[in-house]
Amino acid sequence: MDKLINTGECLSRGQAESYDLISDFCKSVGDLATNYSSAIIASKVPRLLTPLLVDNDFLLPEQRLLKGDDYEKYEIFLCPNDLFSVLAIVWPAGIYSPIHDHQTWCAFGVLEGEIEESKYALVNSQNNLCKANLTESVCHQKGAVTYMSSERNIHRIHNPGKDPAISIHVYGGNYKKIGANVDQIYNT
Ligand SMILES: [Fe+2]
Repeated sequence: MDKLINTGECLSRGQAESYDLISDFCKSVGDLATNYSSAIIASKVPRLLTPLLVDNDFLLPEQRLLKGDDYEKYEIFLCPNDLFSVLAIVWPAGIYSPIHDHQTWCAFGVLEGEIEESKYALVNSQNNLCKANLTESVCHQKGAVTYMSSERNIHRIHNPGKDPAISIHVYGGNYKKIGANVDQIYNT
């Protein structure tokens, strides 16, 4: 396994335990991604993600930083076979992502704070003008997990809190090669 958090540095006991947790998680996701369809992978990743979300030593201090007004993404692990990517995303208080969907399956869990996820139904996508209507909003608290398969699942992320929130995201494929992994941006 490579590209896991600071593998070349001396780890504290807590960080070493975190390393084992993340290592086990990535191996399990790798097994899933090798053997199952996207829909099954996406549905099974959240349960694997849950143990990571109770670990306060999961991220290094520099992986919790906000550098400006926008959200920040930090690479935790890239599967060497391009099967999946694990990222930490730090959300400033009050921020909204665009309404978007993804090119691949994805799952995420809340490590710190709370994340409001709003889901949308496609209205139309003619002439590159994609419109979607709000169908539901769910507020995910610390430890909560959720997922989307790759079938036109449209959502928006919002941090409704007064402090930054951190979520751990697992996407199908290699996010560096795919890019932002956002398929479309939508208007309501
Ligand atoms: Fe998303």
